Amino acid sequence: MQGNFKYHNPTKLYFGEESLNYLKDELVTLGERVLLNYGSGSVKRSGLYDEVVAILRNGGKTIIENPGVMSNPTLEKLHEGVRIARDNKVDWILALGGGSVCDYSKAVAASVNYPGNYWNEFWLGGHNPADGQQIPPVGCILTMAGTGSEMNAGCVITDASKNFKLGHVFDSRLMPKFSILNPRYTMTVPLDQMKAGIYDIMNHIFEQYFSGEDDNTSDYIAEGLMRGLIVASRAAVKNPQDYEARSNIMWTATWALNTLIKCGKSQDWMVHQIGHSIGAWTHAPHGYTLASVTMPYYKRAMKYGRPKFERFARNVWGVNTAEEGLEALKNWMLEIGLPLTITELGANEAMIDDIVSTTNIFPAGYMDLTAEDIKEILKESL
Ligand code: NZQ
Ligand code: ZN
Repeated sequence: MQGNFKYHNPTKLYFGEESLNYLKDELVTLGERVLLNYGSGSVKRSGLYDEVVAILRNGGKTIIENPGVMSNPTLEKLHEGVRIARDNKVDWILALGGGSVCDYSKAVAASVNYPGNYWNEFWLGGHNPADGQQIPPVGCILTMAGTGSEMNAGCVITDASKNFKLGHVFDSRLMPKFSILNPRYTMTVPLDQMKAGIYDIMNHIFEQYFSGEDDNTSDYIAEGLMRGLIVASRAAVKNPQDYEARSNIMWTATWALNTLIKCGKSQDWMVHQIGHSIGAWTHAPHGYTLASVTMPYYKRAMKYGRPKFERFARNVWGVNTAEEGLEALKNWMLEIGLPLTITELGANEAMIDDIVSTTNIFPAGYMDLTAEDIKEILKESL
């Protein structure tokens, strides 16, 4: 390993069918007033909301509710959450839902005690809260596997007025204090969202794997995660009620993006940048936006980073050449039913310039991209 790094992840995890039993233990150290964020109704339909509210009430907590956190949460909704949190002087925040609710809860936590324009400061400016700013602790009860938000400090927010979706990774103060991961909760996730989550996990691993040339332990861990995910995804697509598969997917999601496998690595993240922009214009599930540009993107990257693509072919798919590795990836994507084009997400050629215009461009893993390159990738994804 060539890189220098700090590894610090303070999130405590409770995993498995009995994990909610531990919520009451966490309550002992948390304040009385809790902001309860959740989405558009899945947790009410499943009965989880009632269970959680009962535990919070038994633990003597006052619940301030903030429902309606949408998938791909908006800046407007962030403003609303910050207002509610300030007006009610909340002590801590509980996210009950998928990655969107977890991201959103961290965004409120970062912003509630920031005196200025938090969107400009944190998301557009890329800064972290100043030392000494009070940050209410966040807990997550996760209902969907994919983003890794349950054990990282990422928060993706969309400024819907500008079709601009932007992530910011905060420092470790914004990592959840605890997360409760019960794979059983993910069984009610709609099939499309399950598949989108599976590909989100895979692409998080790619973004960290397809970069750098040194022999790096992080890459071996990444290969193990990919191989496990391929097995579990096949089983889950055949039988979404397969607990073993769903639990492996959930655990893989956490490790794919909790800062472990980026240790000592340069990274890419350009598929995510393009995906965010596609998402802002089409509202497609996050993982699908990534899948839609995958083949053109990695075919291009392969020209610049061939040795890693050969290693991927051998160690992940058991085939010989870089080209065969990408073909195996494509076949797996088709097998589990992922979209391979932006057309399938409702985009068309006339939207490409808009999508390019709201794509952030960073240095990529093996190649640097221009706006023109992104335009070509999107055209090849039609
Ligand atoms: O709103 P509800 O009713 O809860 O419905 C949700 C939503 O419609 C539903 N759902 C979730 N759990 C369910 C369920 N439905 C039935 N049963 C359940 N158990 O699924 C839909 C999608 O949920 P959402 O939270 O939006 O999905 P996901 O977990 O994929 O999160 C996506 C967001 O996370 C961001 C994405 O950009 C997007 O905004 N990301 C966050 C990252 C991070 N923190 O590091 C990294 C990722 O790359 C990603 O960018
Ligand atoms: Zn992602």
